[in-house]
Amino acid sequence: MKILRFVGVSRFRRLKPSVSALLLMCLLAALPLPAFAAKKIIFDTDPGSDDALALMLALNSPELDVRAITVVPGNVTAAVGLENALRMVSLANRCDIPVAAGAQHPLFQKLITAEFWHGKNGLANVELAPSKCKVDSRFGPDLIIQLVHASPHEITLVPVGPLTNIALAVEKDPSIVPLVKEVILMGGSISGGNVNAAAEANIYNDPEAAQIVFQGGWPLTMVGLEVGDKALFTQKYLDQLGQTHGPINDFIYAVAKYLVNLSGTFGSPGAPMYDPSAVAVAIDPTLVKVQEMHVDVETRGEFTRGETVGNRHGMVERNVLRGDRYVIEGVDKVSPNAKVCVDVDADRFLQLFVSRIRGK
Ligand code: BDR
Ligand code: CA
Repeated sequence: MKILRFVGVSRFRRLKPSVSALLLMCLLAALPLPAFAAKKIIFDTDPGSDDALALMLALNSPELDVRAITVVPGNVTAAVGLENALRMVSLANRCDIPVAAGAQHPLFQKLITAEFWHGKNGLANVELAPSKCKVDSRFGPDLIIQLVHASPHEITLVPVGPLTNIALAVEKDPSIVPLVKEVILMGGSISGGNVNAAAEANIYNDPEAAQIVFQGGWPLTMVGLEVGDKALFTQKYLDQLGQTHGPINDFIYAVAKYLVNLSGTFGSPGAPMYDPSAVAVAIDPTLVKVQEMHVDVETRGEFTRGETVGNRHGMVERNVLRGDRYVIEGVDKVSPNAKVCVDVDADRFLQLFVSRIRGK
């Protein structure tokens, strides 16, 4: 190929510039394209049944290069989550990916675990073999800091649990903020919660951390309940997964079956694909429709602690104290800090998920 290029270029010199340029373009177009660079991601997780689906989607998608897995407490304790993460990377034969423990509890509140939804072991009661992979000795937030500095502007953070580890990393080393390519997180909602009327679980489980992350000043995409609740993994997709086999395929089938049955007991036709939706957006952002807005996390409200408050109109009234009262004197623009996913092509996303897991 090098020779061809060389000969071609030397011949062009004798031709008129416009013709030579044209020939050069044709030649270059005929060359094989360089292999596309996979997006480097750090997957921060509280595994977690839907975390398991998300991790396996990430590990089986050529668009993504999982550089590290950092574990945060949430669905299960930090210790159980770490064990689950190690067993899953072992199942996937990916001991090359560092798996690090992170925070042991949320920044300012007690941990709330969710075995009620995710099964006693957090993985839908599916027992995986003990891990062949060893834990990385680094502290999760430190590992995030190191990897971001090692690949400036290349790392996408994909947190799918409470945002404790990410907040700790930013607090310890704010210089990572402009060096992170983007943050694509599963969490939040602008249309009511799943823990209570207002809050989504990942944000509710560490609102102060979430507020730090949302106000970080980096490109941030919020993949919240507006996506997961529309992307229901139904019996139809489960049947497609059941037709093929492999260690990952069979594990994900068992986890998904548990989730489909569980959602059935609550009258839903399928299981919301929360965490896989953030991975899917990292793979293919065209799966979702986004709206830019400013999002704050409520950290004080009696009924609304943990709510992601999205300013959909991009404005706030300007109230000025005049004597004994405030007077509205105009409106001020509010700059967006997040792309909020407001809709999803659910079938395309679910088909993508099934196609990446089938036979693996
Ligand atoms: C989120 O909460 C957790 O239980 C799930 O793993 C997901 O990350 C959905 O609200
Ligand atoms: Ca999760």
